[in-house]
Amino acid sequence: MVDAVRILITGGAGYIGSCLTHFLCNQGYSVTVFDDLSTGFKDAVHENAQFVHGTICEPESLSQTLNKYQINFVIHLAAKLNVAESFNQEATYHQINVQGTKNVIQCCLDNDIAKIIFSSSSTIYGDLRNGQFCFENEIVQPISPYGASKRLCEELFATAFVEYGLSSICFRYFNVAGAMENLVCGQRTAFPYHLVHVVSQAAFGKTREVSIYGKDYPTVDGTCVRDYIHIDDVIQANIQGIEYLLNNNSATILNCGSGIGTSVQQVISQVMVNSLSAFDVQIKERRPGDPAYLISSNEKIISTLKWSPQFSEISKICQSAIDWEAKLNTKV
Ligand SMILES: NC(=O)c1ccc[n+]([C@@H]2O[C@H](COP(=O)([O-])OP(=O)(O)OC[C@H]3O[C@@H](n4cnc5c(N)ncnc54)[C@H](O)[C@@H]3O)[C@@H](O)[C@H]2O)c1
Repeated sequence: MVDAVRILITGGAGYIGSCLTHFLCNQGYSVTVFDDLSTGFKDAVHENAQFVHGTICEPESLSQTLNKYQINFVIHLAAKLNVAESFNQEATYHQINVQGTKNVIQCCLDNDIAKIIFSSSSTIYGDLRNGQFCFENEIVQPISPYGASKRLCEELFATAFVEYGLSSICFRYFNVAGAMENLVCGQRTAFPYHLVHVVSQAAFGKTREVSIYGKDYPTVDGTCVRDYIHIDDVIQANIQGIEYLLNNNSATILNCGSGIGTSVQQVISQVMVNSLSAFDVQIKERRPGDPAYLISSNEKIISTLKWSPQFSEISKICQSAIDWEAKLNTKV
């Protein structure tokens, strides 16, 4: 089966994309990465993958690539994803995330591609949970332009299935973190803003201070509670998602999270314990777009894909992020 599947990954030079590309190439899949390198790194792409420098905002180039490499399966990861930034760049977020996704869908249809996995986000849920689990069948009310852009994309995939038979899985990723087990691939960002990444860098003195945005939330210690999912679990969800889509015609939305809530303060403490280091932590005002809780129900993904998180205890996630930073540090 692996031989028959030719996958194109938009955003395949980024964090999730480069890790997934590594895994798929090592499994023998044919993978083409299509990425504008706005936040990704060409040298993070596996040597066996084809690399095409291009943007999803230019559908001609994407369509030519799909045709040239005879692609029959797409994993669409390319996006802008900084919640705070999205408030100042609403039009750009709409242009890249929503119009870009329309382009990806149209290019799939033009090239007779009937299966796609899309990366949605837990931010789509907004601020309704009060510590309860997020379920896929609830009405979502995103509270940031980034979350709103992902909701519009999910609607595009629902319509594309009904009108054109394009089968899809929209994975609502919670907070993806950590590095691959063998440390071949992990998170590299010019301006880090994901908590585990920022805090792991602080443990090595790369970030001068760590900020907690709001300590007055109605949570266990006043800081926001999130659901952290190890990158190796995300990769495995995609592998099982590919198999599922090859055997089913449907448009499905699946949470991809650990189902465990961990506060910002608990993550910081965990990294300090694991790395045996201490660093300055500043308490700042709450930021718009940050709900108190985002915790995944993973009942649906478990029953649909027979997937369950294997690596997502917070201590393991933090340890792998620390090990990855240590590896990068020895390269400098
Ligand atoms: N990392 C997380 O915790 C998380 C959580 C929820 C959802 N997601 C979603 O997963 C996807 C990947 O996230 P990531 O953490 O790997 O981010 P990332 O920034 O590391 O990767 C995004 C990649 O897309 C590329 N890209 C951006 N705009 C592009 C464009 N117009 N055309 C082509 N390529 C473009 C970037 O160069 C980069 O390589 C995103 O869609 C994001 O919304 C991520």
